[in-house]
Amino acid sequence: MTQRILSGIQPTNNLTIGNYLGAIKNWVQMQDEAETLFCIVDLHAITVPQNPTALHQATLEVAAAYLAAGIDPQKSAIFIQSHVKAHVELGWLLSCMTPMGWLNRMTQFKDKAGKNREKAGLGLYAYLALMAADILLYQTTHVPVGDDQKQHVELTRDLAQSFNHHYNKEIFTIPEPFIKGEAKRIMSLRDGTKKMSKSDPSDFSRIHLTDSDDEIAQKIRKAKTDPEPLPDSLEGFENRPEAKNLLTIYAAFQDKTMQDVLGDVAGKSFSDFKPLLADLLISKLGPISQKMTQYLHEKTELESILKAGAENASTLAEKTLKDVKETMGFVAAF
Ligand code: TYM
Repeated sequence: MTQRILSGIQPTNNLTIGNYLGAIKNWVQMQDEAETLFCIVDLHAITVPQNPTALHQATLEVAAAYLAAGIDPQKSAIFIQSHVKAHVELGWLLSCMTPMGWLNRMTQFKDKAGKNREKAGLGLYAYLALMAADILLYQTTHVPVGDDQKQHVELTRDLAQSFNHHYNKEIFTIPEPFIKGEAKRIMSLRDGTKKMSKSDPSDFSRIHLTDSDDEIAQKIRKAKTDPEPLPDSLEGFENRPEAKNLLTIYAAFQDKTMQDVLGDVAGKSFSDFKPLLADLLISKLGPISQKMTQYLHEKTELESILKAGAENASTLAEKTLKDVKETMGFVAAF
């Protein structure tokens, strides 16, 4: 069976190097090996309140980031989730079959709803059904994501299996999470035990793809570390989450293993290592950020790529949706 890959990112705030290293960078490498679809999941973004102007801008920015980072529209469908109507429709059909017990287990709901659980929107709670629809509409075989999305993909598998079983028909392909490399969980620059997140209140906790050279240098300078020099083996990172995180970032941007880069930097103090890391980030992110600006400045190309992407995606999605509805007993439109 050919591999089909689908993944997406929420257009909330600017993308971070966590999104890049944990997701987009791996997607770029997969384009030659599989059929690939990448969406900007705007319908997911509204599961928490959004400012309309910011949502609009962030949606286009994520699309520009995909392209700037090397997603090639000749090889991959790039589209905005809300442009393919089947996502919402299959999302509803699946939500009717999603046990509330599963939703209660979702760590993302617990984190995002926080203490305000009673006030959280239904969409945040039902998030999983829409994410499952995103994946299952395309008969996706592999879902490349960071570590934090593993639970959602596993529940999507369970949902697909339970649908197929209930109707005694192989309607959905059962997808696998694809979580690769050492950068699957990049941590906050302020606290090495917390995930780097677009929504962390502190801007110093993360590096955005669009940060200027000065911002990158300043954020790395201020990144939390410890007084010890870099160790010469991976065991030396025990109980040193911040040190380990900075080395993970350093290795990931060079496509090397942590062990390999330790060969170059073991024994260095952080005051010597941080400028090396900052220079590396500036050299890797500068070209991405420049290309993003070009795509956002000259929107015609971006719009035509997103239009073609949505058309391609719709063709695949409509076929699955039709099969699902027929199987469930819906009367087709006359
Ligand atoms: P989102 O928008 O939170 O994150 C997008 C991608 O970036 C990865 N990621 C990270 N990887 C490593 N370290 C980090 N600190 C880090 N932060 C984020 C995420 O794992 C993800 O791969 N529910 C999804 C979006 C979604 C989706 C889908 C994904 C909706 N439908 C269908 C795949 C398939 C989310 O909120 O990702």
